[in-house]
Amino acid sequence: MKLLVINGPNLNMLGIREPGIYGDRSYEALVKFVQDVCAEHGVEVECFQSNHEGDIVDKIQAAYGAVDGIVINPAAYTHTSVAILDALKAVSIPAVEVHLSDVSAREEFRHISYAGLACEKTYAGFGFDGYRMAVEYLLERHG
Ligand code: DQA
Repeated sequence: MKLLVINGPNLNMLGIREPGIYGDRSYEALVKFVQDVCAEHGVEVECFQSNHEGDIVDKIQAAYGAVDGIVINPAAYTHTSVAILDALKAVSIPAVEVHLSDVSAREEFRHISYAGLACEKTYAGFGFDGYRMAVEYLLERHG
């Protein structure tokens, strides 16, 4: 089984950006966390981060026929990007949305998720553990 984990804009600034909301661990620590979870389960994984909407769309398109599941934290693009929603729908790869923070308890503009409309599950507010939940959901679903 192969998974693609996509992180959107500003998640490369983890540890520096708003630590009260996102925690004090770095993006590199998140990648290591995800790699360790996947290794535990014998899952192959690629982690991708971009600050650019089109690059995320390109990455989703390139995943067609190449991966069994996508874990995506589209970050701010969650709340704006119909292009990422459409890309997820286009490839119809099972996808799970993750947010470090509990977006439903934050500003109203964070309550809408376009990408989430193409995802089977959303884990929000669990910090790094949300990524573990997403990987384990996709693993179980894959069988
Ligand atoms: C986020 C929540 C988004 O609203 C925000 O724009 C982010 C990170 C999260 O992981 O909690 O950049 O996706």
